[in-house]
Amino acid sequence: MSDAVEEIVNLGDRSYSVVVGHGVLPHAQNMIPSSARRVAIVTQDGIPTKYIPSFAGVDVSTHIIGAGESHKTLSTIERLCREFSQAGLTRGDVVVAVGGGMVTDVAGFAAASYHRGIPVVHVATSLLAMIDAAVGGKTGVNIAEGKNLVGAYWQPHGVVCEMDALDTLPEREMRCGLGEMAKYHFIVREDLSSLSMVDRIARCVRIKADIVSADEREGGIRALLNYGHTLAHALEIATDFSIAHGEAVAVGLLYAAHLANRMGRIDEARVDEHYEVVHGLYGLRHALPNGITPDQLIIDMGRDKKAIDSITFVLDSATGLEVVTGISDTKIREALTDLMTRLG
Ligand code: GLY
Repeated sequence: MSDAVEEIVNLGDRSYSVVVGHGVLPHAQNMIPSSARRVAIVTQDGIPTKYIPSFAGVDVSTHIIGAGESHKTLSTIERLCREFSQAGLTRGDVVVAVGGGMVTDVAGFAAASYHRGIPVVHVATSLLAMIDAAVGGKTGVNIAEGKNLVGAYWQPHGVVCEMDALDTLPEREMRCGLGEMAKYHFIVREDLSSLSMVDRIARCVRIKADIVSADEREGGIRALLNYGHTLAHALEIATDFSIAHGEAVAVGLLYAAHLANRMGRIDEARVDEHYEVVHGLYGLRHALPNGITPDQLIIDMGRDKKAIDSITFVLDSATGLEVVTGISDTKIREALTDLMTRLG
């Protein structure tokens, strides 16, 4: 095994390791419970088989799910659960998800549902899964009424972030992960740019692990992980998901900076810092998609599942990020104009 960084998500007797590095797949064997006699691998056709760990002393079955949001459905969960049953999986056995965020979300929810919950281990092969989806226990699928509207908190037994997989990750998927990574710079107000990629991923995992340990079910500070996501979700809806999540988050971070500035929470220099990270460091220079109007975006921001009485934002301030509600339409519109003007 090569050098690896290990971070722990502290959740009492449900605590688990997240191992980050190159050549770290063998760690998966130690993460499966000792009771396991069967391992059900859930993966996708596009994931190279070399990233599927080997497991000694157990029967292994493989279950392929389709690629794309159209497969992130309850019917995929039903099919997986039927296949687990046909493979003879019991409560002592384990699901191992190998892939990006869609695979870990779907396999995690299938594991949470089958026999009312069996262990799951995530092998993350995309940057987005490593620093976000695979860590923290959020699992779920889409329904026609919205993304990720049906799911469960189901913490994994362990997470392996196999960085070799990033070498062959399609450029667009890498950009999506970088959009989420940019977010962490503002959650902790740290310059992560001097860190190597392994250390930067491990730092993002540590930040998320600390937040999840403090607020597993998003009663409070876990909401800060949604920085940049209010506009991002609206952009995804308005473009019928042709803009990818991380690309939308990159734009959403800049918008959140303009909105905080309009509200007098941060100065222009801090807005510029957002551009330096998103455009400069990560090269995420996404424009607002053509033909999208502020009216449409305001309606779609109101549809965000986190919006309760009014549109909910996470906004920066001199003392850090905070959840803010009750912002006037005027400020929301002014900040959209600022963003559109600056993006050109
Ligand atoms: N992706 C945000 C969270 O896990 O809370």
